[in-house]
Amino acid sequence: MTEDLSAKKELAAVKGTKDILPGEVEKWQALERLARETFELYHFRELRAPVFEPTELFEKGTGPTTDVVTKEMYTFVDKGGRSLTLRPEYTPSVVRTIMEHRLDLEGAPMRYYYMGPMFRYDKPQKGRYRQFHQVDIEVFGEKDAAVDAEIIEMAHALLRKLGVAGTETMVNSVGCRACRPAYSAALREAAGKRRADLCPDCQRKAETNPLRIFDCKVEACREIAASFPSIQDFLCEECRDHFAKLRAYLDVLEIPYRVDPRLVRGLDYYTKTTFEIVSSHLGAQNALLGGGRYDDMMKDFGGPDICGTGFAMGIERVLSVAEIAAPLRKILYVAYLGDAAMRAGLILARFFRANGVECLVEFKDRGMKAHFGRANKLQAAWVLIVGEDEMAKGRFGLKTMATGRQVEGTREELLALLRES
Ligand code: HAM
Repeated sequence: MTEDLSAKKELAAVKGTKDILPGEVEKWQALERLARETFELYHFRELRAPVFEPTELFEKGTGPTTDVVTKEMYTFVDKGGRSLTLRPEYTPSVVRTIMEHRLDLEGAPMRYYYMGPMFRYDKPQKGRYRQFHQVDIEVFGEKDAAVDAEIIEMAHALLRKLGVAGTETMVNSVGCRACRPAYSAALREAAGKRRADLCPDCQRKAETNPLRIFDCKVEACREIAASFPSIQDFLCEECRDHFAKLRAYLDVLEIPYRVDPRLVRGLDYYTKTTFEIVSSHLGAQNALLGGGRYDDMMKDFGGPDICGTGFAMGIERVLSVAEIAAPLRKILYVAYLGDAAMRAGLILARFFRANGVECLVEFKDRGMKAHFGRANKLQAAWVLIVGEDEMAKGRFGLKTMATGRQVEGTREELLALLRES
């Protein structure tokens, strides 16, 4: 009787996390490769920061009134008594890294990308995990709305390569420190009038940061928020002008978009541009990626006054709608008889691998028939036959499994044949 290992609950993966197994991981690798290729064409460079950071980084960066900080962080005290947090997002980490290494003094364009796990203690559901993965890009020191349009265009270029169809791009401006206070006051007033109908969380948000009411997932609150004043009516001249330019650049780049005045996004740091690309093929968790401008974060961290803009794409969500063909693998299976042939097989496998051929040697005492059965099962493209005769002659058998054709040759001759097929 085989034991049901899935019943060992205490050892099972943690709720909201997912194993990515062979068969699926190839799609992840393809996405990562295409993302890298795409971003480097736009002169982005990879920047890798740690998985955990001081808790204050996110409290200050992501923002103390966000759901992410108030409810969703994986925070723990380490043995040195420090409060650390598994990053819920990447943007504050990049800002910290730039400041710590004074990358702003190097004179190189500050365009960075990264791919990796993020952690949020949210309610798991389809498209929402507690460990999920983002592809993140950030640009610093570019005030012009043209760069916001350029990164939106870059996101589209990547989604196209990934075969993602049926998307909609939403854009908005959330203003700046000059114009947002008046909007917050108007929201507070509107929320005050409906206070009794709002959930307790939103009643609190009305006091602390009324913009955050737009993030509420309670249907009644969403309906009420839909009737709140629009930020578009409160933008100062500079923000209005920036937003007009963003739309004009998107038109130049022929990116269709919709202005959504409620798109404030769930993080506190945004200024001016916000955007999201959503999929029409997904349910509640339909945001494939989101981002925007955050011109004050570095200054607020006590660093130089350098503006930033960027976005993060959710890998799980994108892969759930991507059309990526799994790469075709051609495997050479090494079939040997006896110990001496096995050792010769190892050396042959090294030769073929060094020449770019994927090779498999299994260290089991099998007869030739069993080797062929195994090669068939593994859908190997070819079988290399190594026996005593073959070793003595220095010539080996090669069977092409699809055709059943078998030839004999030196390893160099066989390599030439493999390369041709
Ligand atoms: P975000 O909107 O919080 O933005 O996350 C970006 C994307 O990550 C979402 O659109 C979604 O695809 C994915 N995502 C978020 N939470 C989850 C989850 N629990 N499970 C699965 N996927 C998820 C940010 O994180 C900002 N740092 C983006 C940014 C970069 N803004 C400026 N620069």
